[in-house]
Amino acid sequence: MSLKESIEAVRNSFRAALAAFPTDPQQVEALRIKYLGRKGLVADLFSKMATLDPSEKPLYGKLLNQLKKELTTAFEEKVKEVERKDTKSAQEQADYTLPGLYYPVGSYHPLQQTLDTIKSIFKSIGFSVAYGPEVDDDYHNFQALNIPKHHPARDMQDTFFIDDNTVLRTHTSNVQIHLMENQEPPLRYIVPGRVYRNEAISFKSFCLFHQVEGLFVDKYVPFTELKGTLEYFIRQMFGDDKKIRFRPSFFPFTEPSGEFDIWDDERRQWMEILGCGMVDPAVFKNVGYDPEIWHGYAFGMGVERIAMLKYKIQDIRHFYQGDVRFLEQF
Ligand code: DAH
Repeated sequence: MSLKESIEAVRNSFRAALAAFPTDPQQVEALRIKYLGRKGLVADLFSKMATLDPSEKPLYGKLLNQLKKELTTAFEEKVKEVERKDTKSAQEQADYTLPGLYYPVGSYHPLQQTLDTIKSIFKSIGFSVAYGPEVDDDYHNFQALNIPKHHPARDMQDTFFIDDNTVLRTHTSNVQIHLMENQEPPLRYIVPGRVYRNEAISFKSFCLFHQVEGLFVDKYVPFTELKGTLEYFIRQMFGDDKKIRFRPSFFPFTEPSGEFDIWDDERRQWMEILGCGMVDPAVFKNVGYDPEIWHGYAFGMGVERIAMLKYKIQDIRHFYQGDVRFLEQF
């Protein structure tokens, strides 16, 4: 094959390669190296000039330079054209009617929502919020609240013991004692928190639940103020139409004691939501308050029970299963 024919052959095969131009960048680079690289086909033809008769060199030199220029320009044009097509087709392919990306959004747990509502109602009537220990000694959870060891009242609250003297608190009432030990009266607090009971689990009882304790201590605290405050709370929480009942009860740390029930429309029965009473003088003595001077009322409400009534939830266990189908309804 003469050099002229070789030049034509390279030109033709290059044109064929351009027609089937690859999309993969590595293949594009391989193509460039094959024709235009330092050891590529064009360089190869240049090296063949050495074999030519000196009289032929100027002509072939010119032809080869033309070839090199032509291939280089054609190659660069092609690369640009492919890039343009890429961006254009991406724009043409965009479908603006497609739905956007879905990002699931979290929400507050229904118990947290209930707690927040309870807190804001009591804050609006002058209560402060305090917290206390979930693991406590027997003294604060029981004895200081007028529940001595082996007293039958302990049967009301099946207890998880850490050791002989340490318990997971069975109620938030332990914080009444901590508050009064650490502060002089008067005081007015609510205490939200978790409590634990080793109870048979059912639709309305779980081994873990939440309470909000309340404690009001001052010089003049009539029983009607307890009743009025709690009725106000229930009306704020449930509205004016809810059927409620206030009945006598017993707790070792209050005297007299009462409980509020709320009518459960779903189950057609009363559901107790809180215990309360006037702080027993024995409790004041235990914390060093003079019961001749100071009086007070206390209460403790079940947050799960309130949430169940408010949101018509049939089973307390729903709160603790983390099932998104349940949680996303709130
Ligand atoms: N601690 C009681 C319970 O867990 C509830 C309770 C009743 C709290 C009367 C009080 C109260 O502060 O005065 O069942």
